[in-house]
Amino acid sequence: MPFLPKLSRRGFLLGAGQAVAVGAAWPGIGRAMQSHGDKIAPNTASPNFNPDVELELVCRPDSAPILQGAPTRVWRYVANLVKGPENTLTVLPNSYLGPILRFTTGQKIRIRLHNELPEPTITHWHGLHVPMLMDGHPMYVIDPGEIYVYEFEMRNRASMNIYHPHPHEATSTQVYRGLAGAIIVNDEEERALGLPSGEFEIPIIIQDRTLNDDNQLVYGGGMHMDMIGFQGERILVNGRPDYRVDVASRAYRLRVMNGSNARIYKLAWDDGTPLTVIGVDGGLLERPEVKSYVMLAPGERLDLWADFSGRAVGSKLVMGNAPFRGGLPPMAERMMGGMMGGGLPQTMAFPIFTANVTRAVSDSPKLPQTLSKIVRYEEKDVANLGNPIPIAISAGHMSMLLNGAPYGEDIQPRERIPVDTVQLIDIFHEGGGGQMGGMRHGMMGRGMMGRGKGGMGMGGMGMMGMMSMAHPIHLHGEPFQIVGRVFDGDPDGGYDTMREGFINSGWKDTVLVPPGERVRIAKPFHDFKGRFMYHCHNLEHEDMGMMREFSVE
Ligand code: C2O
Ligand code: CU
Ligand code: CU
Repeated sequence: MPFLPKLSRRGFLLGAGQAVAVGAAWPGIGRAMQSHGDKIAPNTASPNFNPDVELELVCRPDSAPILQGAPTRVWRYVANLVKGPENTLTVLPNSYLGPILRFTTGQKIRIRLHNELPEPTITHWHGLHVPMLMDGHPMYVIDPGEIYVYEFEMRNRASMNIYHPHPHEATSTQVYRGLAGAIIVNDEEERALGLPSGEFEIPIIIQDRTLNDDNQLVYGGGMHMDMIGFQGERILVNGRPDYRVDVASRAYRLRVMNGSNARIYKLAWDDGTPLTVIGVDGGLLERPEVKSYVMLAPGERLDLWADFSGRAVGSKLVMGNAPFRGGLPPMAERMMGGMMGGGLPQTMAFPIFTANVTRAVSDSPKLPQTLSKIVRYEEKDVANLGNPIPIAISAGHMSMLLNGAPYGEDIQPRERIPVDTVQLIDIFHEGGGGQMGGMRHGMMGRGMMGRGKGGMGMGGMGMMGMMSMAHPIHLHGEPFQIVGRVFDGDPDGGYDTMREGFINSGWKDTVLVPPGERVRIAKPFHDFKGRFMYHCHNLEHEDMGMMREFSVE
């Protein structure tokens, strides 16, 4: 069977009140919400917690204008500030996306989540270092009409993070309907740099959607879409099609997030101007990095310095997807480039948003050459040098797993982690992912990149090779450092079209692992015991069970 994604009118309409119909047609929904043990009472407010910021966050069906004509039925986050600085909430105009939540490091935050959806949900703060009870673990889903109270202190440094639902087996559909938003954290180290702010700091939240002739969201069904993940026919930025932003001829800070379910982007400016990267998932880099393109997978963020100085009024600059291969299984890439050409194959260029220079100004801030201090982990810092914890990506014909097992209650011995340690973790494709089969350990060298017995799989081509695609692997909790990447896959598999686009120098919480590559990370597990998820952030994969958890003890 070909991996033909069902994208178009043959797919299913998603709208308020249609969850049952969709559930009948799409097995992922039918399986949703099966009991994970006894239901736990939703967390309530603690009288001893004195918040600096308090807000009500409601998930509910609504409608939003996306295309000309009929509004689109969506599910969305709506927020109301009860206490705290006025700039805490920024509503994106005409968008189904939730408001931007702006916090400061050290703040005590209380958020009351109201579920006004027709099905259970729970919200996760992607990137934040919070206790398990505050992390949106699927076991804490609340029913329609219920309220879950989150209370935590902002421990993260300045960074852009995400809030989105995390109910097991329904994350992809809830996000697709519109439930997502950005969290921006500010701190003193960042403030001292005087980076562009206010109107000169622009969120760029990239998603892909398919809408039908009535402007309603379409979500393709079936096993083939599950296997590669949803690929929409239209790019939205901040919930808007054909996104345009008017800029002055000066420097801007673009806060980019890939909020798509499964689509990976290779970001590049259309005129060949390089991208100046100042930060990633977990905040600012030590120094800017200049790249001709940057890969951005679902769940990843990018902080860009975009300088329009010297550009003429009336000129424009387009950020688009540059063609790449290796993101999807080769068969799916061929089919999307051919008969599915009406969509937006990754192997082709397409625009994402346009910056129109509409104002000339003479002064602009200068790019700081030093941005932040990052202390790199060394051998002495890690608890398991020479014995990295494996995260094996196991892609079979009908399954997407990690370490050969689906999401469940069983914790494997290697998933038990002593609290307050830093662990080396190897993320790799079982079977090597490429035609060359398993990776050679010897390439990893000594020290932090030294030989690991992460449990390389069987090697060889077969179904594993045919299903090989890039997976964005996300770990909850504190961000991690990338220690190294080793590629030993098929030299013709497309890796060369991506390899210059990875930012490996900053703090990350999501890392793209192309076929044939092994990524070694150093991941801290400080402060909080309990269960913390790790999963593929291709949300269809996550919902298929490509998710497990660490037990921090
Ligand atoms: Cu952005 Cu566990 O998710
Ligand atoms: Cu997360
Ligand atoms: Cu995946």
